[in-house]
Amino acid sequence: MQRLSRHLLEQILALDEDALVVTDRNGSDHPIIYVNAAFEQLTGYGRDEVVGQNCRFLQGEETDPAQIATLRKAVADSQACAVQLINYRKDGSPFLNHLQLAPLRETRGGVRYYLGRMRAAEDWQASAAKPNRTVDRTDAQGLLDIAKFRSLANRDLGIARRQKTQLCILLFRIAHLDLYRTTFGNQAAESCLRMVGGRIGGGLRRAGDLCARLDAETFVALVLGQAERESAQFARNIADQVRGMALHNPRSPEKFIVVDTSVAGGIPTAEDSIESLIASAAAAL
Ligand SMILES: Cc1cc2nc3c(=O)[nH]c(=O)nc-3n(C[C@H](O)[C@H](O)[C@H](O)COP(=O)(O)O)c2cc1C
Repeated sequence: MQRLSRHLLEQILALDEDALVVTDRNGSDHPIIYVNAAFEQLTGYGRDEVVGQNCRFLQGEETDPAQIATLRKAVADSQACAVQLINYRKDGSPFLNHLQLAPLRETRGGVRYYLGRMRAAEDWQASAAKPNRTVDRTDAQGLLDIAKFRSLANRDLGIARRQKTQLCILLFRIAHLDLYRTTFGNQAAESCLRMVGGRIGGGLRRAGDLCARLDAETFVALVLGQAERESAQFARNIADQVRGMALHNPRSPEKFIVVDTSVAGGIPTAEDSIESLIASAAAAL
């Protein structure tokens, strides 16, 4: 049989309607080496964002650990398998993934590459989605509503726990907002909050960072991949930016709107929860 060139093969894969992913078992943590256009369309992630990562970043809070174990065993045994499990798109929305894994056997030797074929169950979102699951969850400042923040943060906590990576909760509390409110009124205070929230949200660096308004004067953010000390410095930098906005708060000791910051986190243990991290950060404010 005639051999197909790489160029031809790539065109065939690009035209496939199912999301395809190829991984390399010899790479560190079994990374993705190829995804097709349908994968990008289904998950919302671009190829450059996912190549080099293990596919487990698609998992989250509601992904069934039993299905993950089936995948783990199949890969360890160089076997094919098919599972249905909840995965999450880049925007945080869940989908039911009909996933088939197949080892790709080389002409000589064993299995080095794996093919994953993903298909989203079409009617699942409509029937199983909870009312608070909306895809468009961020407001004009790029802040999540707090319920969505909690749900995504819990997913990230699960992943950070499994991957033993850093996860920090940052709190930003506006000092003397009450004085601002009594000076300028409720509407002005709300607009001040929006501006400060926008600056905090805008200060977060990566697409995976999350931010929401926690209560009347506090914002909460989740930052991945940096330790507590680094995150504390990061929070202070954002606080400097807020101070730099020079929002006049004439009756406050600082004369301007400032935010106090605190951080809690690290590599999460089994005892940590998003609520406990928020509580520790709040205690340090
Ligand atoms: C080719 C391939 C594709 C995969 N695709 C997915 C996927 O779409 N969604 C998912 O949740 N896991 C997927 N996985 C499974 C994870 O990469 C990983 O094997 C699984 O989470 C079990 O390992 P862990 O316990 O180390 O996380 C895929 C694995 C392979 C080899």
